[in-house]
Amino acid sequence: MLKSPIKIAVTGSAGQIAYNLLFRIACGELFGPDQPVALHLLELPPMQPALEGMKMELDDCAFPLLNSVLVTDQAEKAFKDVDYAILVGATPRGPGMERSDLLQANGKIFIEQGKALNEVAKETAKVIVVGNPCNTNCLIAMAHAPRLPKSNFSAMMRLDMNRAIYQLANKAKVGVNDITKMTIWGNHSTTQVPDFFHAEIKGSPADQVITDKNWLENDFLTKVQKRGAEIIAARGKSSAGSAANALIDAIKDQINITKAGTWYSSAIHSSKNSYGIDDNLVFSFPCVTKTPGKSEIVSGLHLNEFLEYRIRQTEKELKEERDLVRQLI
Ligand SMILES: NC(=O)c1ccc[n+]([C@@H]2O[C@H](COP(=O)([O-])OP(=O)(O)OC[C@H]3O[C@@H](n4cnc5c(N)ncnc54)[C@H](O)[C@@H]3O)[C@@H](O)[C@H]2O)c1
Repeated sequence: MLKSPIKIAVTGSAGQIAYNLLFRIACGELFGPDQPVALHLLELPPMQPALEGMKMELDDCAFPLLNSVLVTDQAEKAFKDVDYAILVGATPRGPGMERSDLLQANGKIFIEQGKALNEVAKETAKVIVVGNPCNTNCLIAMAHAPRLPKSNFSAMMRLDMNRAIYQLANKAKVGVNDITKMTIWGNHSTTQVPDFFHAEIKGSPADQVITDKNWLENDFLTKVQKRGAEIIAARGKSSAGSAANALIDAIKDQINITKAGTWYSSAIHSSKNSYGIDDNLVFSFPCVTKTPGKSEIVSGLHLNEFLEYRIRQTEKELKEERDLVRQLI
């Protein structure tokens, strides 16, 4: 007997990340070859014709697992009874726009969407925020959806993690599967901390395999922190294929039990003061899934001076972002 469909809302569905994501979900790559999916696509009113075009293309794939496609400009319709809400849509930073303006503009979107999730989503719905600034947008949405447990929310750090894995593998001339325990601490911004002290290459500490300390501390760190800007400079557009790919990885991280001897990075609510991080931030930690759907922070890692200093910097930035939207949460 066919399983009942998993309902997935995707906001910003006429945008470039969604264009790289939706076909992969609809063909069964995310939830498996016997799991039907229903897509609920949300876009702004002016983008409805483009969204209809997106639906037409999905229809034209005749995907056996694609149960239905709903297109709408109403958050309450898009989030009705969903199992997943992937919040991609956001206001881009315009010319002359300050970070505070961007936070305020996006704050309004994530208040409205948080409220709609609170009204109509399943209580078990998992909410993954991609639209930037994703950590603070996630904090805002969470604050307006008190019916859903805070542990259901995350902001995507998997792209940063994948970028770091590639850089280490490339430098050490090993395969990407040889890199484990790759943590990105903190904010999805240039203050993020790619942790090469706890990362392992074929089971040995990365900084013992790659002995070029200058490369690790400077080139590697900066490359990963600034990769987003490097992609924009090269493509004239922000990362979309790699972001959609990271979303698939991030959701699989949450669904599947994490293999022994590794972990993944995800920005989640810092409610337990893990690693001394201030309460009520959406902060990226090393995480494992022991129960499907539940990310748990890996505890007990030693933070040396190098990490501690940088982790406090990224925490400081997230606190400043939170201060800027204080009246919205
Ligand atoms: N976390 C990450 O790792 C990561 C990586 C890449 C991009 N991003 C962010 O993801 C976001 C989307 O990127 P993109 O390349 O797809 O952008 P895009 O501009 O191509 O698409 C965004 C879409 O969102 C829509 N939108 C805006 N406000 C909306 C709202 N209130 N409701 C529904 N839809 C809305 C827009 O109409 C647009 O079609 C950006 O904020 C980008 O910075 C995050």
